[in-house]
Amino acid sequence: MVDKIKVKNLSCYYNKKCVLESLDINIEQNKILSIMGPANSGKTTFLRTLNRMNDFNVNYLRKGEVYLDGYSIFCMNMENLRKRVGMLFAMPIPLPMSIYENIIYAPKCLNIILSKSEQNIIVEQALRDASLWDEVKDRLNSSAMKISGGQQQRLCIARILAVNPEIILFDEPCSGLDPISTAKVEESMIELKRKYTIVLVTNNVKQASRVSDKTAFFLMGKLVEINKTDELFVSPKKKQTEDYITGRFG
Ligand SMILES: Nc1ncnc2c1ncn2[C@@H]1O[C@H](COP(=O)(O)OP(=O)(O)O)[C@@H](O)[C@H]1O
Ligand SMILES: [Mg+2]
Repeated sequence: MVDKIKVKNLSCYYNKKCVLESLDINIEQNKILSIMGPANSGKTTFLRTLNRMNDFNVNYLRKGEVYLDGYSIFCMNMENLRKRVGMLFAMPIPLPMSIYENIIYAPKCLNIILSKSEQNIIVEQALRDASLWDEVKDRLNSSAMKISGGQQQRLCIARILAVNPEIILFDEPCSGLDPISTAKVEESMIELKRKYTIVLVTNNVKQASRVSDKTAFFLMGKLVEINKTDELFVSPKKKQTEDYITGRFG
C-alpha cells in the first residue's frame, strides 16, 4: 500500500472558529476513500484544503500539514498542484460549447499547447476513462448542454482527466443526479481508481459502501472513525458511526 497523501494534524478555521480539528488521514494510491457525514462536518473544507482552494480566503486559517508523495502541498507551485489534484463539484457545469471543446478547454486554461491530433487523442482518452465515449463519440461537436445530467457530470470528469491529474476530489458528485445516472458515475469512479487516487465526499451512506475501499466518518469537524469500508459498515467501532450508518442519527 502506497500512501499518496498524508494529512498530519490538520486543523482549519474560518473567522477563528475551528471547523476541522487535528485530522490525521492517509489516502492510499489507486484507492477510493469516501468521506461521509452530515452537513457542516467540514467535508468540503477538507477537499478544498487538499488543492488549496481556500488560499485566497482571508478568513481561512490552516494548521498542520498535507503531504503529496512526501512533499508539502503548501510549498508547491499552485498551478502544478492543481494539475495534479483535480476537483469535481456537486452540480455538473458544462461550458456552453461542444463536447469536444469542453474537454480541450481545461488544458488550454493551463496554457498547455496541443496539436489537433494530440487534442483528438486526449479527448478520446478522457471520454473513455470517464465511461462516456460510447455514448457521445458520434456527436463530439454538438453542444454539451444537450446531453443528460449524468452525461454532463461524466463530461466534467473527462474535463478533469484531460489535464492528466493524479488525484481526483469529488464533492457530492451525484447529489443532483437520478439513480441511473448515479450508477453510471459510480461505475466510472470504480474504473478511474485504476489510474487515479480518489477522495469522494458523499452524503449518501450507501454510495460510500458501494464504491469505496476505505470510509471516513466526519462529525462536526472531527474524524470519528476511518476504516476499510466493509469493516466500518459491518462493525463500526464508534456509536456515532453506527447511529449514522443505520439512519438513527440526530
Ligand atoms: N467560506 C466560508 N466562510 C466561513 N465559514 C465557512 C465557509 N465555508 C464553510 N464554512 C463553515 O465551516 C463549517 C464546515 O463547512 P463545510 O466544510 O462546507 O462542511 P460540509 O461540506 O461537511 O457540509 C460549517 O460550519 C460552515 O458553515
Ligand atoms: Mg459540503
